[in-house]
Amino acid sequence: MKMMTKGFASAMALTIGLSAAAKAEDVEVLHWWTSGGEAAALNVLKEDLASKGIGWVDMPVAGGGGEAAMTALRARVTAGDPPTAVQMLGFDIQDWAAEGALGNLDEVAAAEGWDNVIPGALQRFSKYDGHWIAAPVNVHSTNWVWINKAALDATGLGEPTNFDELVAVLDKMKEAGITPIAHGGQPWQDATVFDALVLAEGTDFYKSAFIDLDPAALGGEKMADAFTKLIKLRSYFDPNFSGRDWNLASAMVINGEAGMQFMGDWAKGEFLKAGKVPGTDFVCIRFPGTQGAVTFNSDQFAMFNVQGDAKKAAQAAMASAIESPTFQSAFNVVKGSVPARTDVPDTDFDDCGKKGIKDLAEANTAGTLFGSMAHGHAAPAAVKNATYDVITAAVNGEYADGAAAAKALADAVAAAQ
Ligand code: GAL
Repeated sequence: MKMMTKGFASAMALTIGLSAAAKAEDVEVLHWWTSGGEAAALNVLKEDLASKGIGWVDMPVAGGGGEAAMTALRARVTAGDPPTAVQMLGFDIQDWAAEGALGNLDEVAAAEGWDNVIPGALQRFSKYDGHWIAAPVNVHSTNWVWINKAALDATGLGEPTNFDELVAVLDKMKEAGITPIAHGGQPWQDATVFDALVLAEGTDFYKSAFIDLDPAALGGEKMADAFTKLIKLRSYFDPNFSGRDWNLASAMVINGEAGMQFMGDWAKGEFLKAGKVPGTDFVCIRFPGTQGAVTFNSDQFAMFNVQGDAKKAAQAAMASAIESPTFQSAFNVVKGSVPARTDVPDTDFDDCGKKGIKDLAEANTAGTLFGSMAHGHAAPAAVKNATYDVITAAVNGEYADGAAAAKALADAVAAAQ
């Protein structure tokens, strides 16, 4: 009882302190949510903060996956003028914390009991040295396929559950005169597809190769097989795939120009924005051969070490708003992701969202939930970038075969550590 009173009193003090200070300060937010679906989700956040008296200064840096945003961030911090809050992924958060650049959200986290409701897999990135440094807004997963329903129906085949069935569907789509795979040839997108191919080689293998960075796994037969399959998939892209933005690839599936896209569930945000309905207009399935396993990434807002109580209070107020269960539902329904808390009901989510929530919980229990290499949750940036180089070179036909690509990957990862 004594504890509860103390907890309640400190929560009250925090709330009063925050609302008074937040009026005085805006939050400047650096992010890369510039596509139609992303901007719609971001609006949910902006409006939620506005309703709490927290003003928003926008710093958008376009570019899926956030590489350009991270370059812009480095320039701001070097100039001694960090933004208040920054959208960030996995190991990047830890790297900034190690540099001593991040602030501290312990007070709001303790008052709201984040330790008990935010999954350990996310806390591993939201905390540094035992202190809360970032507020997770969602969990995305990357091993999804988004299929145009009419195009799938026209093949006369069912949803593919393994690579051979996938190839059969792709061949039928090709015969029907549509581009089987809508792909954007950018390193992070190439790597997103490759994450799924590596996971399809087995969950133990994904862990050995991408989490443990075992040289034998990175350069071995299963990796060679994953590259062989990547090179095969490449033959189903259209000739204009190089450099295409991911949301333009989504649009090709939405308008029936292409059959499917391999992409994280932020793609669903584009389908929803276009008024498309899961099960009717499009189908969401796990990448063939990865059912029961999930590769995830979580967008978090890392709070920089800003000066002044008012700015710090605005950071805490923003973090508190992000972690509210009602906000978690409202935002993630639009974004395509699932909540970053375990206690948010799935009631308002569509069928793909409900499946995403269930898959994540089951994979977490089964030990088949892994951080995405492509999205900075498996290894630090140097290793991630080394994998990007090899994967993109493989997509561009620079290796004689899958085995040569696997050897190059093992060498590149060794050199990056
Ligand atoms: C991911 C990010 C998502 C998504 C995507 C494309 O890295 O986690 O929120 O928007 O990039 O921009």
